[in-house]
Amino acid sequence: MAGRLAGKVAIVTGSSSGIGQSIAIRYAQEGANVVVDYRKRPEGADDTKKQVESAGAKAVVVQADVSKHADTQKLVDQAWQQLGRCDILVNNAGVEKGADFWDVTEQDYDTVLNVNLKGAFFLAQAFVRRLRDAKLPGRIINISSVHEDMAFPHFSTYCASKGGMRMLTRDLAVELGPIGITINNIAPGAIATPINKSLLEDKEKLNALLKNIPLGRLGTCDDVSALAAFLASDEAAYITGSTHVVDGGLMVSYHEQ
Ligand code: BGC
Repeated sequence: MAGRLAGKVAIVTGSSSGIGQSIAIRYAQEGANVVVDYRKRPEGADDTKKQVESAGAKAVVVQADVSKHADTQKLVDQAWQQLGRCDILVNNAGVEKGADFWDVTEQDYDTVLNVNLKGAFFLAQAFVRRLRDAKLPGRIINISSVHEDMAFPHFSTYCASKGGMRMLTRDLAVELGPIGITINNIAPGAIATPINKSLLEDKEKLNALLKNIPLGRLGTCDDVSALAAFLASDEAAYITGSTHVVDGGLMVSYHEQ
């Protein structure tokens, strides 16, 4: 199939909805076969699979909870067994839990850090080991957040996880460059997805947020997947160790009134 990702195979975690689903479909449109990962919404994963297939690519659906070490290995094994290779990893699965710092529970801390950071860490490790053994190049794209850099009061666990992801990417760029693997973060701002459902339903909060976005609108999943496709393509061969922001100007926005 023609396209910038023709002949490639990608794992996209959390691709049963939101940004992950959009990336899986976009990759298929660019010619890649895709491992569609989901944790608890098989119907969403099936929907992604159908859309990948109508773009003319193959989709393999795998149930895996990236916070579990064994499941990260399962994803990589399934890609190689069912699709014969694995060139691109998109660590997209993520959760957030709002609470004042003094009320954060150990359970919520573990959930957020284990999905957002530990999951990305060990999935990248399993992905890299296979490529290193096969002496093949690869691409890792982490879906981070503007909050890898910018404070998000009452979301301290989320900020800690994304800040960790920021540093992980910088560190791994150095370790993985010599074996031909690039790694980059995409930092979305406020994108309309299921993760911020409660915000989207609260008109007052939403309007306050929109005032901080110079482009005056929320982002779409397609705004993010367009960049994810570029970063996975040969055109991005010399880009590693960086964060690429997709936020309508949110991070640099400051105004008095
Ligand atoms: C969070 C959203 C938030 C956005 C902008 C994202 O990373 O998931 O809940 O609205 O950042 O602050």
